Amino acid sequence: MRTVSIVGIGTGNPEHITVQAIRVLGEADAVFMMDKGEVTRDLLEYRQAICDRYITSPSCRIVTAADPERDRTAAAYRPAVADWRAHRAEVYERLISAELGDGQNGVFLAWGDPAIYDSTVHVLDEVLARGSVSFDLCMVPGISSIQALAAQHKISLTRTGRPVHLTTGRLAAQGLPGCADDVAVMLDAGGALASLDGAGLDVYWGAYLGSADEILISGPAGEVTQQITAARQAAREQRGWIMDTYLLRRRDST
Ligand SMILES: C[S@@+](CC[C@H](N)C(=O)[O-])C[C@H]1O[C@@H](n2cnc3c(N)ncnc32)[C@H](O)[C@@H]1O
Repeated sequence: MRTVSIVGIGTGNPEHITVQAIRVLGEADAVFMMDKGEVTRDLLEYRQAICDRYITSPSCRIVTAADPERDRTAAAYRPAVADWRAHRAEVYERLISAELGDGQNGVFLAWGDPAIYDSTVHVLDEVLARGSVSFDLCMVPGISSIQALAAQHKISLTRTGRPVHLTTGRLAAQGLPGCADDVAVMLDAGGALASLDGAGLDVYWGAYLGSADEILISGPAGEVTQQITAARQAAREQRGWIMDTYLLRRRDST
């Protein structure tokens, strides 16, 4: 039987990887890297740096495949994502059957932690459901961008005995849940933070967390939101892409 592992690789710092991940990479016969195109070439380079640093077997193959693009113009979000996943499943299925023999180990690299807003496990579940290739599926956790965010700001995401709400920019833009005093937001394409009523909120924001280009800003939302928006826009223009995340914390909650 083949083994296919999803390995969390952190979000920019090659030291944000677990000992388990290093072992699994060391045992890999093939590592699959998805190429999302020229704009995000440095993300592929980061993956390559992880492989150069942690893959020890000279016979391990690094196989790069073009990542099918999601239709971002589609009116309906969920069908567009389902369609994109199906295309990815075809690519993953082809990679596994072409590159892994019986008893061999393959690795898909997942940004941050594979259990947080990452579709790799859903795609591999879909490959298994299609039934034309079989494998044992394993998952190795990684340091997520929200963990890196908390560490860099030297805060805890949770306050004593309270919950934290994890959401996307698209949902946060519709308003924060009334009962949520601590909200971690990922996948904000740019508008959500600026559109929120910041009264009574502190924000802890970070971009390119873990990397040499990391940017951190924190303070009362009313005071720092404009600064974040400007920093975000400038960084995006300079680099061609941005990944940022933030925690919103209600100041006067009981
Ligand atoms: C598709 S999700 C992947 C999340 C990833 N699995 C994790 O655990 O961080 C991508 C989102 O994660 C956040 N993100 C990922 N890497 C980041 C980084 N280095 N700095 C700040 N935010 C990051 C951003 O909100 C981005 O839109």
